[in-house]
Amino acid sequence: MKIAVSGKGGAGKSTVSAQLVRCFTLHQMPVFAVDADPDANLGLVLGLDPEKVDNLRPLIELQDVISAKNAGGGSFVDLNPDVDDVLDNYTLREGALRFLKMGGLKQGGSACYCKENSFLNAILTTMLLDRPEAVVLDMSAGIEHLTRGTARGIKAMLVVVEPSRAGVSTARAVDHLCADLEIEQVLFVGNKIRTEEDRAYLVNSLPRERFTGMIPFSENVLDRARRGEGLVSSMADLLPGLEKIYEMACGR
Ligand SMILES: Nc1ncnc2c1ncn2[C@@H]1O[C@H](COP(=O)(O)OP(=O)(O)OP(=O)(O)O)[C@@H](O)[C@H]1O
Ligand SMILES: [Mg+2]
Repeated sequence: MKIAVSGKGGAGKSTVSAQLVRCFTLHQMPVFAVDADPDANLGLVLGLDPEKVDNLRPLIELQDVISAKNAGGGSFVDLNPDVDDVLDNYTLREGALRFLKMGGLKQGGSACYCKENSFLNAILTTMLLDRPEAVVLDMSAGIEHLTRGTARGIKAMLVVVEPSRAGVSTARAVDHLCADLEIEQVLFVGNKIRTEEDRAYLVNSLPRERFTGMIPFSENVLDRARRGEGLVSSMADLLPGLEKIYEMACGR
């Protein structure tokens, strides 16, 4: 089961991603939790040890590994390197969970960074198309890590949207990017909903049949975020609506 989560900055991508990851681990299902947002904070929202999260090297920074995998020259696309060892050695493990940071794609003078970017693409291809584990990708609104090739592996793209004009506008932009990548199932998740007006605003602004849930504003989530605590230690800690979103994303 491979799920991607996107939306405007601050909309709640990492919160929803972390809750989904916990749905998998609470069901003892192996899952990769992937921080693919350059402004990375998924590890902390998951409640992992901050020092370990800090010390984990983003994959794009693994120059030594990237050079070794690319020893023969050429691009990764041609070489199709075996990157299973990277997934074993550069991830933080906690029970059924494996956490990794992608790091931002290298921009500018793209030729010089071709190796790094195609290395990330090889990792995503392996995780999304070859490996049996579930994947939850916490992505920025640009979803720039995905290509048409890797997007084929995504079962559902969840677009987290706050009830604001800017939130809706970003959600539409993400929806267009997903259409370009031919992602079949793009679902909206309303977040930080306080009133019936919030809910009505969202379903009147975006295709209502594609909403898979409305998550209420929660003081508890904010409190835990302030204290740097993880969000979920049992099913009872899941935000209202989350389990349904999980089941829908999993196609049940
Ligand atoms: N349902 C909710 N109720 C209350 N607070 C929430 C809720 N969802 C998220 N938040 C809070 O909103 C803030 C942003 O959430 P989060 O970090 O998940 O968003 P994000 O989209 O990942 O942000 P960024 O773009 O910075 O990565 C956090 O302080 C989080 O605790
Ligand atoms: Mg985030």
